[in-house]
Amino acid sequence: MIRVAVLTVSDRASRGETEDRSGPLICELVQQRLGAVVTGQAIVPDERTAIEAALRRWCDEDQADLVLTTGGTGFAPRDVTPEATAAVIERPAPGFAEAMRAASLQVTPHAMLSRATAGIRQRTLIVNLPGSPKAVRENLEVILPALPHAVELLRQEATVAPVYQHALPGEHQAS
Ligand code: MTE
Repeated sequence: MIRVAVLTVSDRASRGETEDRSGPLICELVQQRLGAVVTGQAIVPDERTAIEAALRRWCDEDQADLVLTTGGTGFAPRDVTPEATAAVIERPAPGFAEAMRAASLQVTPHAMLSRATAGIRQRTLIVNLPGSPKAVRENLEVILPALPHAVELLRQEATVAPVYQHALPGEHQAS
C-alpha cells in the first residue's frame, strides 16, 4: 500500500477565501489509480517555512512514500514551492518534472511557466504539481505509471558494498 501525503500551497485557500479543489482531486486520483492510502493532507500559504515544515514532517515522522504538492510553482513573486522543495530534498529526481513539462507542452505553452521540481528525502519522493485542478489532472496522469516502481525502489534495503581483498603491488601474500 503506497502512503501518500498531499499538500495544497495557496494563500487564498489557506485563508478559506477559495475552496481547495486540487488537494481533494489528488487524493481521489491516487486512491483510485494507485490504490494508495492518504496519510496526510494540509493547506498552507505560499510561505517557505510552512511548506518546508509540512514536507519535513511527512518525510521524517510519518514516513510517507510519496508527497504531492499542488500550487506555487509559477512565476508570481509568492510562488516558492520549488524552492521549499529543493531545500528539503537530498537527491533530485528530475525525470518527473521533465516528463510532466514535456507532456504538458502538447496541451499548453503555459507548461513552460511551471517551475515544478521533484526529489527524494530519505525514503520519500516529493513531486510538485501545478495549482489548477485541470493542470493537476493532466500532470498527475503523466507520472502515475512510474510511481509504483519508484516507491518499490525507495523501500529497498540498503546493502553494504562487498569488500574485495586484493594484494597491493609488491605486498607479500600469505599462502
Ligand atoms: N500544465 C498543464 N498540463 N496544464 C495546464 O493548464 N498550467 C500552467 C502550468 N502547467 C498548466 C500546466 C500554468 S498557466 C502555470 S502558471 C504553471 O503551470 C504554474 O502553475 P502554478 O503557479 O499554479 O503552480
